[in-house]
Amino acid sequence: MSIVRKDEYYSQIQGAAQYLKERLKSTPKVAIVLGTGLGNLSDKIKNAEIFSYSEIPHFPQITVKGHAGNLICGEINGVEVMAMQGRFHYYEGYSMKEVTFPMRVMQALNIGTILISNAAGGVNGNYNAGDIVLVTDHISLHQDNPLRGENDERLGTRFPDMFSTYEKELILKAEDIAKENNIKTHRGVYFGWPGPNLETPAEYNMINTLGGDLVGMSTVPEVLVAKHASMKVLVASVVTNECFPIGRLSPTGHDEVIDVAKIAEPKLTQIISELITRI
Ligand code: HPA
Repeated sequence: MSIVRKDEYYSQIQGAAQYLKERLKSTPKVAIVLGTGLGNLSDKIKNAEIFSYSEIPHFPQITVKGHAGNLICGEINGVEVMAMQGRFHYYEGYSMKEVTFPMRVMQALNIGTILISNAAGGVNGNYNAGDIVLVTDHISLHQDNPLRGENDERLGTRFPDMFSTYEKELILKAEDIAKENNIKTHRGVYFGWPGPNLETPAEYNMINTLGGDLVGMSTVPEVLVAKHASMKVLVASVVTNECFPIGRLSPTGHDEVIDVAKIAEPKLTQIISELITRI
């Protein structure tokens, strides 16, 4: 999929969406990307219909053995959702168009809202590992962009503006729910880092200087396409490692990231499963 012709990409999206439409018992209203920190939410989906990525025409395939790759469609608190269990990261070698293919399928299914979670390094000195941050904006260091290439007007405009990309109303609702449940949240700016290496101490410093509060390797391409598709977006990050000031930095392993995310998982699951009912 390195150079993708507009009509070919469009027909692949339609093919995948058609496959799902023919099988779905109901129409999903909200899409969820179950990133690190939200994995448990899949257990809350009732009347679930599970589609493996490998059965959906044109869907990118999971290359890492043991990683889940499913679209789970069903109800959470009575609301129809479509959840991605397993996402595609640019650092794995997928093209940007592959990374964001699922968002195009959501668009083709007329899903108007996407809720995205991720694990991120905390580059704000006030954040602690395990904290939840509602993302208000982003800065991207990705050199590639899923919107690069001939624009397909059927999918969105050539030069999408990025004003109010992170829907204020959704952030406020998420904050209300957090307060009602005594869950602490922050607001912050997510810095998109291509990876796969983590940042050097000097790079964490730079990210803080540039205005980043969090840094992570997913989400930005997904948000760019969701905005191009005129979807409402909420992003919630779990701070898995403290990266600023430099004195708080320690070697960070993937297992540690996963372990910390697990601690925050019930809180984020609570916020998102309730938010779904208020959209
Ligand atoms: N940097 C980039 N991505 C991450 C980090 C980090 O420190 N922690 C979790 N994802």
